[in-house]
Amino acid sequence: MTEQFKDNIEIREAVKSDLEGISEVFYESAKLHYKNDPLTFKDPKDFTSYTKKVSDFFKDRDINSFIAISGNEITGVLRYEKVQRKETGEYRGAKSIKVKDVAVKEKYRRSGIGSALMKRVLDLAQSLEYIDFVNLRVRAFNKEAVSFYEKLGFSVDSYKMSRKVNHGK
Ligand SMILES: CC(C)(COP(=O)(O)OP(=O)(O)OC[C@H]1O[C@@H](n2cnc3c(N)ncnc32)[C@H](O)[C@@H]1OP(=O)(O)O)[C@@H](O)C(=O)NCCC(=O)NCCS
Repeated sequence: MTEQFKDNIEIREAVKSDLEGISEVFYESAKLHYKNDPLTFKDPKDFTSYTKKVSDFFKDRDINSFIAISGNEITGVLRYEKVQRKETGEYRGAKSIKVKDVAVKEKYRRSGIGSALMKRVLDLAQSLEYIDFVNLRVRAFNKEAVSFYEKLGFSVDSYKMSRKVNHGK
């Protein structure tokens, strides 16, 4: 771990004026996902048009975000959502917190920022009596993120599998 940032991470809830800093963090992650899985993810293209998409995150009032600040810079972001599964004959109506995205600026990685963001959401889950678990999805290509989540105590509880359809090509 890079000692430089370790003791100097502030985590707080995001507000609308954080939009540009949040976009900077997610832009790198969006490029990584597009490069490795272009069937699923859109090309984030230029930063200005990407920022417009990120502003939509704030329109969805059920999705909340924590940001990490080191110095005066937004260095990491985590978006989460509280989810209640519909109770059916098969499923109990489990209540969970879903981590939608977590990303840290490349040059600040491996300095504990991602863990500090995840700890905040795990603490929130712990404080809410009705929450059964915290879950998330991670792409199979993203081995680094899998190691990160495993270190935080997450383990695989289901597989989502896909097969590409070639339509005669
Ligand atoms: C995944 C990510 C958020 C981790 O953030 P981070 O701030 O670098 O993570 P931390 O410094 O808190 O790492 C904690 C531990 O996770 C594991 N870990 C983190 N990055 C790792 C990597 N690249 N390779 C292997 N293990 C890793 C290590 O065990 C690490 O502890 P250590 O540094 O003491 O060895 C960051 O790499 C990132 O932004 N990736 C791009 C976006 C992304 O893929 N997000 C996940 C989408 S599902």
